[in-house]
Amino acid sequence: MCGITGYVGGEDSGEIVHEGLKNLEYRGYDSAGVALGGETIQVHKREGEVSELEFPETSGHTVGIGHTRWSTHGEPTQENAHPHTDCRDEIAVVHNGIIENYEELKEELQAAHFFESETDTEVVPHLLEDELDDDVSLRAAVHRVVQRLEGSFALAVTAAGHDGIVVAREDSPLVIGYGENEHFVASDVTAFAEHTREVSFLENGDIALITNDSVTIHNDGSVVERPVETVEWDATAAEKGGYEHYMLKEIHEQPQALRQTLSGRIDDLSGDVTLDIDLPEPYLQSLEEIQIVACGTSYHAGLYVRDLLEQYADIRVSVELASEYDFRGGRDPWRTLVVAITQSGETADTLSALREANRSGARTLALTNTVGSTVTRDADATLYIRAGPEIGVAATKTFVSQVATATLFTVYLARVRGAMSVSQASEILESLNALPGAVQQVLDNNDHIEAVANEYADSRSFFYIGRASGYSVALESALKLKEISYDHAEGFAAGELKHGPLALVDEDTPVIALLTDHAASSETVNSVKEVKSRGAPVIGVSSDIETTSLVDEQFDVADIGPMEPVVANVALQLFAYHVANEKGRSIDKPRNLAKSVTVE
Ligand code: M6R
Repeated sequence: MCGITGYVGGEDSGEIVHEGLKNLEYRGYDSAGVALGGETIQVHKREGEVSELEFPETSGHTVGIGHTRWSTHGEPTQENAHPHTDCRDEIAVVHNGIIENYEELKEELQAAHFFESETDTEVVPHLLEDELDDDVSLRAAVHRVVQRLEGSFALAVTAAGHDGIVVAREDSPLVIGYGENEHFVASDVTAFAEHTREVSFLENGDIALITNDSVTIHNDGSVVERPVETVEWDATAAEKGGYEHYMLKEIHEQPQALRQTLSGRIDDLSGDVTLDIDLPEPYLQSLEEIQIVACGTSYHAGLYVRDLLEQYADIRVSVELASEYDFRGGRDPWRTLVVAITQSGETADTLSALREANRSGARTLALTNTVGSTVTRDADATLYIRAGPEIGVAATKTFVSQVATATLFTVYLARVRGAMSVSQASEILESLNALPGAVQQVLDNNDHIEAVANEYADSRSFFYIGRASGYSVALESALKLKEISYDHAEGFAAGELKHGPLALVDEDTPVIALLTDHAASSETVNSVKEVKSRGAPVIGVSSDIETTSLVDEQFDVADIGPMEPVVANVALQLFAYHVANEKGRSIDKPRNLAKSVTVE
């Protein structure tokens, strides 16, 4: 939930750590701080965004750690901002995750130590202070301290008079970057990608001492090696590229993201899909059930493909909110595949559901955007969605790439199971191939969508209705609007309106109706009539010209078969963006939210 970064080398650490924090700000942005290390420790921190953090431009320090926070324990204040220090201000610690037993540790330490914050993290520098009094190395002290911590953490520590930085990982990501006579560490490669792409990902239990010329990793008392990999990274992909917001840029990147997702995976002639998944075909043929676990937007992507999977791959499918997941009895783990959909690969609820599935004996597949993320290590197999980096907190291009990847998986599985004919496969693959072009047409219609959004921007409550895959798009589109505009927005199965929510509809409640053919538009038309007769203005998203007489405004989408509701979603991403922009909201960093939710 928070972002950590660190640097050791020949350059001024202040500037590099500050830059790294700016790149990580999507992970949390309610307070930030840095500690510059070496012979002395200098801490600069404050509430507010990273850009508001001030410290001397050239610090003269060549060791630094930094943190951008999304508060869990204690409000976003200067005192609660990281780094946290010991009583003598000689040890500085930044932390991502939660230390569950901090209250008892704090109670034990309070007699001899002075605490300044309400955070769980602050116990760590005080515990380290006691250990370093025994004259051990910083690495040994961190080793002793982490034995006492319960919960999840990524820690980075620097101490006056001690070489470099020591980091420790337990269930929160940490990646080390290798430069020439310099090393980086961060929660995510984004922090230092402009400096190096040679990285190694730490595993649970790893404690690493990072100096300018070496990285030594210990696990369980022994030295271990972690492979150094080259990550593919287009640094410009993580910049705004002339757009006002990352979200708008990422919405516009969708045709390209979809091309990347599909590239090299479809054989048009045979109707086959090639996916590099490490799951044996006989196992896939014997499957009886798929459980999809995910949160938020990724959960909606799961809902989107459920019907396709059931219809074509001849398999029972459930889609479960990861935070509610329970591998209930009565299921045969040997014939159950659990698919975790997670853009970041670090969402704590999703990881926890995946681990429960692993414990129950089911096989697991991760669908993720993030190479080397925790989910790729915990799952039996991984399928990358290849959307490229997404910085805006609101997921946009990753949603469409998740749906496209999961649809490819549907065809792959259905073909392996002999459940799908070539012509059925071709219908879906043609629809997938048509997606980038159809999305581009929606983007070209931006001005119209913006004008409609501006017209309705003063409304305080929006309803979204749809059926079948259009229902998942209604849920996703409502989530997008509420998270960035702070207006009430709710998605409904169109048929459910009359069973209660209709009572809330009046002339001030715009209703956005998914009227694409494949979202069972003819039945949704009845719901549109119901809300119209209560005076509600209706915005239809449709490929069917016939609906124009029914609705007040219409966003056209191309008729491309089963993927049509995805295209409708893009129109509604733009609608949400423009409503929020008209209100002057903090679109890339909506209040109270963070991109990567690493706490349960
Ligand atoms: O990284 P994940 O896909 O696991 O994230 C899950 C949700 O937190 C995420 O999809 C969230 O709902 C979106 N950022 C909202 O736009």
